[in-house]
Amino acid sequence: MPSNVHVSAAYSHTEARAFPFSVHIALFKHLHQVPKSYPDVKLLPMEYQYIHIDRYGSNIATQAAKYRDLRLAALQQSPTSFSSTYETESRFSLDTWIARLSEPSKETFVVAARSTGEWVAQVTVLGPITTSIYDLPEESGQPPALPDEEEEKWQMLGLYTLPEHRGHGIAKKICQEAFNYLEVQEGQPKKVRVRIMVKRQNVAPLKMYESMGFKSAGLCTLAEALIANGDSDMIPEGELPEAFTSRGGVVMTLELDKK
Ligand SMILES: CC(C)(COP(=O)(O)OP(=O)(O)OC[C@H]1O[C@@H](n2cnc3c(N)ncnc32)[C@H](O)[C@@H]1OP(=O)(O)O)[C@@H](O)C(=O)NCCC(=O)NCCS
Repeated sequence: MPSNVHVSAAYSHTEARAFPFSVHIALFKHLHQVPKSYPDVKLLPMEYQYIHIDRYGSNIATQAAKYRDLRLAALQQSPTSFSSTYETESRFSLDTWIARLSEPSKETFVVAARSTGEWVAQVTVLGPITTSIYDLPEESGQPPALPDEEEEKWQMLGLYTLPEHRGHGIAKKICQEAFNYLEVQEGQPKKVRVRIMVKRQNVAPLKMYESMGFKSAGLCTLAEALIANGDSDMIPEGELPEAFTSRGGVVMTLELDKK
């Protein structure tokens, strides 16, 4: 077990006093065997490193390869969670992945396991997006955006945690890293709105976003989600099949204030 793993026991002081010290030690030593659903013990986030990708970094090609591997794992393991597909993205060259990470409008955050260096989670925020791109047709129910001088708008996408690292608060923390980045940006406007689009059947992520403060703001189509996520080239030409035009996605937004 890595020496930098810390244990947080979530039981009350009264319960804590009821356990002899040896039990605490045993818990610590066997922490890695504790099932994820164990209610009283949590890993603190020290064993994970949160990284904001530097698009100008000299190691961008290495990072792009790691990013690609994690993204393809996400598309393979959770095909119903994303608007894109493994079939499409597995064809991308390394240059395409480098270009994706280097786009000036995208800020990408990843989480690395300190013990192995493996990348285990990622999320991207895309923006600022203009009101004309942000707005959806009236039938979506999404309220019209405020003018760009009054509110900065960002789209959040691609949130994923590898299954074996889930339940440790990584998704919430990596989203918080992205929000912190947006909050410390200088300049006007001070108001920031972050939007996500989630397939309606993905109940657990919807609840998770709600617990982070996101509020429902309408329903979107797959075509709208692809455009919003910067993947409009994945929309087929010609008349679109129903899968692209039915309002099967939930739009949620979160308001932030720059510091
Ligand atoms: C959704 C996902 C990113 C959560 O990752 P994670 O690192 O395990 O999330 P966290 O540990 O930060 O959990 C955040 C909260 O969501 C809850 N949660 C997350 N996934 C859950 C699930 N599948 N079932 C029930 N609750 C879940 C957690 O209990 C936690 O709630 P709490 O703070 O009240 O305890 C991860 O399950 C995943 O990658 N899923 C597949 C891809 C996906 O759905 N991405 C979102 C696309 S919109």
